[in-house]
Amino acid sequence: MALSKLTSLFVLSNALLGTAIAASSSGCKANAALPQDQTPGVAFTQSDGTDRNYLIHIPSTYVSTTPAELIFSFHGHGAKASDQEDISQFSNATFNPNGIAVYPQGKKESWQGAPYANKSINDIEFVKDMISNFTETYCIDTSRIYASGMSNGGGFTATLACDPSVNTQIAAFAPVSGAYYIKNSTACEPTAIEVPCDKGDRVVPVIEFHGDHDTTIPYGGEGKSGECLPEISHFVRSWSGRDGLGLENKTTYDMYDGSVTRSMFPADSSDPNFGLVQHYKTAGLAHKWPSMDTTNYDATPIIMEFFGNHTL
Ligand SMILES: *[C@@H]1O[C@H](CO)[C@@H](O)[C@H](O)[C@H]1NC(C)=O
Ligand SMILES: *[C@@H]1O[C@H](CO)[C@@H](O)[C@H](O)[C@H]1NC(C)=O
Ligand SMILES: *[C@@H]1O[C@H](CO)[C@@H](O)[C@H](O)[C@H]1NC(C)=O
Ligand SMILES: *[C@@H]1O[C@H](CO)[C@@H](O)[C@H](O)[C@H]1NC(C)=O
Ligand SMILES: *[C@@H]1O[C@H](CO)[C@@H](O)[C@H](O)[C@H]1NC(C)=O
Repeated sequence: MALSKLTSLFVLSNALLGTAIAASSSGCKANAALPQDQTPGVAFTQSDGTDRNYLIHIPSTYVSTTPAELIFSFHGHGAKASDQEDISQFSNATFNPNGIAVYPQGKKESWQGAPYANKSINDIEFVKDMISNFTETYCIDTSRIYASGMSNGGGFTATLACDPSVNTQIAAFAPVSGAYYIKNSTACEPTAIEVPCDKGDRVVPVIEFHGDHDTTIPYGGEGKSGECLPEISHFVRSWSGRDGLGLENKTTYDMYDGSVTRSMFPADSSDPNFGLVQHYKTAGLAHKWPSMDTTNYDATPIIMEFFGNHTL
């Protein structure tokens, strides 16, 4: 009772401040006071007005005049938005104190780009609609919108990274244990297949995590569901090549007590673009999001640091 009263006072005072102060200088649209029925610090499910919905978490630090970053986290095939909130922990203030975290729900729990996804569902359009809705509804820093996802959601994160109509709105991409399905016209050769991606002119920052004990989306790639999954280092190198960073990397072995081999692109650490493409290969990790529960480090703070280094 007392809390909700405080919250509405807080919202009201911010709305008044928003009109009094030139809110346009804050980088977000004026009068973006939090809707009265929304509570910072608690995730809630919302519909986009059609038949799509998402789980959204407004951080408890949210102030309607301070632009917040916006982080999308896409679930894997067969999973729910709330599962993705659990595994990726972008609602956890320890990892993400100030960003708005959004966990969209895929139709039939899948995402565009996978062979099993419904071809008539346009998830890229869904993401664009959410971005335009959120930038109207909340105080969002449009130079700091990010995308991450697990498995099929990681594959979709890469699909977004390859789409020039949306990769100009999202500053950086973090696919985890991604399923990067490729339609093959000949036999599936995971280390040789060309990775299709018409990303446009933007040099796109990408950080990829994958376990070498993944049997669902194997590190070495394989034919699956009638399509071809690339070998993961080949997939990451393809990104580096596409971004103009070369195919060589600077490798750091045995990070996190031996569990991680990290590849940084380009290879030259004095290059201003050093680390624009990164890959964490995790020894012993299955088809999981790296965390202290699944291996011996958390991927999420590494992703947050990567996001923090890239703005549009
Ligand atoms: C965004 O979506 C919410 C939930 O459906 C809706 O209430 C709101 O009006 C939408 N805002 C805009 C600007 O489209
Ligand atoms: C947030 O993350 C920290 C670090 O992993 C963990 O100790 C804590 O339990 C998490 N908080 C919640 C609410 O899950
Ligand atoms: C695919 O999506 C379309 C459009 O929403 C829908 O009409 C159709 O029933 C869906 N197909 C399947 C197999 O779910
Ligand atoms: C593509 O790869 C899959 C999996 O190996 C295989 O079943 C299929 O025949 C291949 N497609 C073509 C056209 O060769
Ligand atoms: C980085 O280089 C090392 C050494 O050549 C190689 O084993 C590894 O596969 C490369 N990483 C990527 C992602 O290409």
